[in-house]
Amino acid sequence: MDIDEKKMVDIEEEIRSLQLDSGDATEMIDETAQHEELEKVDKMEEDSKEEVHNQAVEVEKKVKEKENSALDEEATFEKELPKKRHLNVVFIGHVDAGKSTTGGQILFLSGQVDDRTIQKYEKEAKDKSRESWYMAYIMDTNEEERVKGKTVEVGRAHFETEMTRFTILDAPGHKSYVPNMISGASQADVGVLVISARKGEFETGYERGGQTREHVQLAKTLGVSKLLVVVNKMDDPTVNWSKERYDEIESKMTPFLKASGYNVKKDVQFLPISGLIGTNMKTRVDKSVCSWWGGPCLFEALDATEIPQRDPKGPFRMPIIDKFKDMGTVVMGKVESGSVREGDSMVVMPNKAHVKVLAVFCDEDKVKRAGPGENVRVRLSGVEEEDILSGFVLSSISRPIPSVSEFEAQLQILELVDNAIFTAGYKAVLHIHAVVEECEIVELLQQIDPKTKKPMKRKVLFVKNGAIVVCRVQVNNLICIEKFSDFPQLGRFTLRTEGKTVAHKRQAESVGLQCYISWQHDRRDTTTAPSLETRATEVGSAIGDRRSEIGLIGSELATPTAWPQILPCLRHLDVLPRPSAPPLRPPS
Ligand code: GTP
Ligand code: MG
Repeated sequence: MDIDEKKMVDIEEEIRSLQLDSGDATEMIDETAQHEELEKVDKMEEDSKEEVHNQAVEVEKKVKEKENSALDEEATFEKELPKKRHLNVVFIGHVDAGKSTTGGQILFLSGQVDDRTIQKYEKEAKDKSRESWYMAYIMDTNEEERVKGKTVEVGRAHFETEMTRFTILDAPGHKSYVPNMISGASQADVGVLVISARKGEFETGYERGGQTREHVQLAKTLGVSKLLVVVNKMDDPTVNWSKERYDEIESKMTPFLKASGYNVKKDVQFLPISGLIGTNMKTRVDKSVCSWWGGPCLFEALDATEIPQRDPKGPFRMPIIDKFKDMGTVVMGKVESGSVREGDSMVVMPNKAHVKVLAVFCDEDKVKRAGPGENVRVRLSGVEEEDILSGFVLSSISRPIPSVSEFEAQLQILELVDNAIFTAGYKAVLHIHAVVEECEIVELLQQIDPKTKKPMKRKVLFVKNGAIVVCRVQVNNLICIEKFSDFPQLGRFTLRTEGKTVAHKRQAESVGLQCYISWQHDRRDTTTAPSLETRATEVGSAIGDRRSEIGLIGSELATPTAWPQILPCLRHLDVLPRPSAPPLRPPS
């Protein structure tokens, strides 16, 4: 082989390897392109040395270009993703603390509401003898709320600062509407806890039975990781921007926030405002109004809030909080993990309805893709609106969210009605993401020593306020939950009874949910072979030729005792696990 020949072979090698590499990276290089490149290689053999070199460089460039174009689609999506980060902020606190007023003022200050609308609200509020509620009318949009001056439904609005797009969720403070507050808080990462500094009002909200306490405890359980505590109504004549009053509230609240699980130094920030007048909100309070405040205003504090990033590539999870019909079935919710894009195939759990994503909307805008933390509306085909309930979860097909009717969990007992005892047979209402479901404690398994966090040795039959206990919980209908260690947001829940929060809990780290989850069977009922087979066949046909994924589904959801039935089903479907997929675990 002479030198020219050798060079030619080298060039050919290089081109081939480029083609191989790019073929690995993308499916976008079509056969025509490859054919063209081969033709060019043929032609090169007849050309002079220099020409060969030039041609090779040309081809190399072309292949590289195509390689890059492989990432084009991804890049287009990236471009379509809004540049600013997005935060969900829930306004919580005792009734009449000023949550809706502060929310309304934020919208006014950020230019979402014009003066004429405010004047209209002033008139309407006056007609209803609720003069001072006009700012709250921006958030309180229905007649009942306006007449009574109380938020009922969680109000939802959007505003932007330089760095961040915010979704505001204005929760009701009244104790009758705690379930709505829970649904609002479960969609948020950041909480604005509004406290009224007006004489007597802080005290009523803070005492036992006041919603300040319950909202803080619920917010922590529901995954609100950061709190801005705004001491509101600082303009009120009984307060008049008094430093003493502000300090009193801060010093009384701090130990309680600590006891509720917040790291007061890292996760909590106090600041004084007047929601009604808009002071210390968009700009810092003037020294002539409040000489002692040197900290940030509300917009600055919100902009500086940092929350942990979620995984955009994780398995898709979106608890459905609402649904309606609009050229298909539209579901609403916050993406907790993974991403959704137009054209995706998904499954709605727990009813396992296979759906196609027709469109994705963020705020009012149609987008190609949305990632974790976004509040979205997703238009689906393949499922009727009436077949979806709030609390169902839109999930990825390859790793659907587990659905169970029984599970083990670790609970902390906060406040039992009439100081009752907590024992097997205790009935309560369970709240987890958008699920509200009656449940029963069927067995107490272990008590945990609150000091050492270790299980106590003696058998536990009942516990009282303050106890931490691991127990088995049963619900009548299947609900979608996760292990706390896998998805904290979907693995924490709250039990309430007779309108009071009695316990909040995280699912036990050490107890595998997997043992209780199978093809729609709970652990009392894992041996029903025929429906296992039906399920496996359904899943198989639904995922078409991506059969290997059934292996994944099987390995994720099967109970050990169900394996003898499941394995033959999988074999029957000619399912082989993909080399990259986690191995199918045999029955132990
Ligand atoms: P719920 O939705 O019922 O829980 O109440 P809320 O917290 O949304 O309170 P809302 O905004 O409806 O305000 C209750 C009352 O407090 C209204 O009369 C407001 O005008 C008044 N208020 C709110 N913020 C301020 C404030 O900064 N200063 C003064 N002086 N009054 C305020
Ligand atoms: Mg309100």
